[in-house]
Amino acid sequence: MLKVSSADWDKTSASYAQHSSKSPTSIPIQRLIELLDTLTPLSTASAILDVGCGPGAATAQIIDTHSANIDTATQLLAGDFSIGMVRLVSQLRKTKLAELSVGHERDLWTRVTPLVLDATDMRPVLDESVSHIIANLVFFMTENPAKAVAESYRVLSQNGVMACSSWARMAWMECLAIAAERIFPPLGKPVPAMPQFPVQWASVEGIEQQLANAKFRDIHTEYTQAPIVIPNLEAWSHFFMNSGNPAVSWITDDLDDAGVQEAEKQFIQVVKEQCEVNENGAYVLSGTAVLAVGRK
Ligand SMILES: C[S@@+](CC[C@H](N)C(=O)[O-])C[C@H]1O[C@@H](n2cnc3c(N)ncnc32)[C@H](O)[C@@H]1O
Repeated sequence: MLKVSSADWDKTSASYAQHSSKSPTSIPIQRLIELLDTLTPLSTASAILDVGCGPGAATAQIIDTHSANIDTATQLLAGDFSIGMVRLVSQLRKTKLAELSVGHERDLWTRVTPLVLDATDMRPVLDESVSHIIANLVFFMTENPAKAVAESYRVLSQNGVMACSSWARMAWMECLAIAAERIFPPLGKPVPAMPQFPVQWASVEGIEQQLANAKFRDIHTEYTQAPIVIPNLEAWSHFFMNSGNPAVSWITDDLDDAGVQEAEKQFIQVVKEQCEVNENGAYVLSGTAVLAVGRK
């Protein structure tokens, strides 16, 4: 079982604020929104809940791409169990309200409610009170993914729809694992175990089963390529290694500052050895997301 606490996510919220618009997570978000909208148009939504919303990227993308079709009566709930992440959503809402003086988009931002909410126990959200749920790269990282899916099912109204995702493959984790094998033995320390995500969330067949177990129907699943494209490998590696993101803290937590610097150096070397360079000279760390959508 994976154990990443809300305090762990709080630690990395500042780095999410800096780089989330360039992160590979925005690709699955856009596709999840399309899948939701195809199953039941967002124009009919009574309430849209962004579960494990992080800095609010999915909510922002829904407003950016579909505001014309969303009624101002629609509630927009953005929930995360990390207070640091919820603060980012509140800040984003404040910024948007300041930027947009009038208009429909502004009206929708006034409807955004940031919430501290655990995906595996969403008790503040009433049964059958939400028409659409988006949960990008969340359920498989919780301590009890099946309970998180069941909670989303509970709060959905009859015929309500949910879209969620996980990772099948992340080249950045593979590169980190190789870097870890090079760093720790010379320090006389054991190589820390890479965090393991539940295998049943790493394939389209597996994710389909997770939704079916919770009684979802009309399930559709697919893979989506979501690479990290890195024009400046040194700058990005420095950011990544110091981000406090659970993706790297399994290595960096066991290292002092000099160790983190060495990890950064080794990571850069491994990326150069393992990853392709695109036509613009940027390194491409491939990532494959698994997407699923279903109806209650
Ligand atoms: C990989 S990030 C994705 C964030 C956001 N959905 C996005 O696409 O940018 C995972 C998020 O899930 C949140 N999270 C993890 N476990 C959670 C739980 N049990 N309940 C609520 N949020 C959780 C983390 O705090 C973090 O913000």
